[in-house]
Amino acid sequence: MVSNRGPVSFTLDDAGHPVPAGSAGGLAAALAPLLAGSGAVWVACAMSEADRAAAALGLVAEDGLELRTVQCDPQAYSMAYDVVSNSTLWFMHHHLFDLSRRPRFDEHWHRAWAAYEELNSHFAEAVSEVAAEGATVLVQDYHLYLVPGLLAEQRPDLRTVHFSHTPFADPGILRVLPGDVARQLLAGMSAGRSCGFHTDRWERAYRACCADAGVEPARTFVSALTPDPELLHRRAAEPACAAARRRLDDLLGERRLVLRVDRIEPSKNLLRGFWALDELFESRPDLRGEVVMVAHAYNSRQSLADYLAYGNEVEHAAARVNEIWGTGDWEPVVLDVADDTASSLAALTRYDVLLVNPLRDGLNLVAKEGPLVNDTDGVVALSREAGAYEELRQAVVALNPFDVSATAAALGFALDLDPAERSRRAEALRELVRRRKPGDWLSDLLAAAG
Ligand code: F6P
Repeated sequence: MVSNRGPVSFTLDDAGHPVPAGSAGGLAAALAPLLAGSGAVWVACAMSEADRAAAALGLVAEDGLELRTVQCDPQAYSMAYDVVSNSTLWFMHHHLFDLSRRPRFDEHWHRAWAAYEELNSHFAEAVSEVAAEGATVLVQDYHLYLVPGLLAEQRPDLRTVHFSHTPFADPGILRVLPGDVARQLLAGMSAGRSCGFHTDRWERAYRACCADAGVEPARTFVSALTPDPELLHRRAAEPACAAARRRLDDLLGERRLVLRVDRIEPSKNLLRGFWALDELFESRPDLRGEVVMVAHAYNSRQSLADYLAYGNEVEHAAARVNEIWGTGDWEPVVLDVADDTASSLAALTRYDVLLVNPLRDGLNLVAKEGPLVNDTDGVVALSREAGAYEELRQAVVALNPFDVSATAAALGFALDLDPAERSRRAEALRELVRRRKPGDWLSDLLAAAG
C-alpha cells in the first residue's frame, strides 16, 4: 500500500517526545483496518516534525503491518504537498479554481512542481526497495500520480494499480495546467496495470481527459469503498461515545437535530449549509426554536491560506445564524471544531437529518457511515455531486449543493417526513450501504492488478 499520509501520525508532547495522534486523513483511517494483520508493507510519508522524530526512533508500527516511512526535506515536502497536491490538483479535481485569480503558474509553482516530481521519485525508490519480485503495489491518490510510471521503468516486474479517492476533473479544467504537466500526470498514473475510481462518473472523466490530452488510458475499474458496520458499532458502543451521546441528548432535549460532519474544506460547502439553515428559519417560522444544527467541522490543511480564510468564513456564517435567530434558551447552530471522533460518531447515532452537501466529492464516507449507526430513523440529505449519491440515490433526499434555496427546501422536506417514511428510508439506506462489504474494495484492487 502506498499513500502520502500513513495509518499512524504523531504529535509532540510537552516534553517534545512523539506520541501517536491517530491519522487525520479519512482515507488512511478507512484503509488501515482492511490491511491489519495482512503483513502488507505500507509506504507513506513522514509529514511533520513529530512523524520524522517517531520514524527516527523506530516508533512507526501498526498491528500486522510493516510501515516504511519516506523521509523528505520539510521545505520541499511542503512545496509538493501544499502547492501542487492540495492547492493545484485537489482544487482542479474538485473544480474549485477561482480562475480570475488562481492558480498562478509562476516560477514558485514550477519549483513546487520539481519538488512534487522529486517526492514521487522518493516514493518509487522506497517501493522498489521493499517490494518483493512480482509484488502488487496499490498507489493511492493525486499526491503520487507519477509513481506508477516511475515503477514501470525501475521495476517492470511489479503489478501496480492507481486508485483515485477524489473526483476526476473534466477535460476543460485539466487544460488549465501548464505546459506538458497534464500529459505527464495522466501518463504517470496510466503506466501501471489499471486505474480505479469510486464511480463511473470519475472514470469517464479520466478517460475524457486522456482522450483530450492524447494519452493512452490505462485499463479502468470502478469500486466504491464502504465502511465496516461491525467496527463502527463497536466504536459507537465505547464509553466515550456513549457519554458524548448523553451530552448531546441533554443539549437537544425535544429539539430535532440537523447534523453535519466534515473537515473544514472548501469542497464540503459548509457555508451554503448555514445559509440554507438561515433561509429555512426565515421561510418556516414553525421550525424556529425546534431545530438545532450541530456541525462537527474539524480543521485540515492549516498551512494553506485558502483553508484558514474558509475556516474564518465558516465560523462567521455559523455565528450569524445564531445572532439572527438565537434566543435566550435556543442556540440554533453548535459549531464544534474539536476533532473528536467519539462526539462525531455519537452525533451520527442521533441525527434526524444528516446534511452532506459537498460541491464535488470522490465518495463521502460520512454519507455511508451515518445510516449504519443511526438509531433514530434519520434522513440523509445528500448532494448529487458526491460519489456516494450513485449508490444511495433511491433512499436519500437529493440536493443541488450550489442552490441555497433548494438546500433549505430539502432540509424542510426531510424534517417533515412522517415516521413511517423515515423508517422506510432509513432501512433502505442501511440495505444499500450493506450491499458492498468492507473487503470488496481491496479485492477489486487486487483483481485489477492481475
Ligand atoms: O478522505 C480522503 C481524502 O480526501 C483523500 O482523497 C486524500 O488522500 C486524503 O483525504 C488527503 O487528506 P490529507 O491532506 O489530510 O492527507
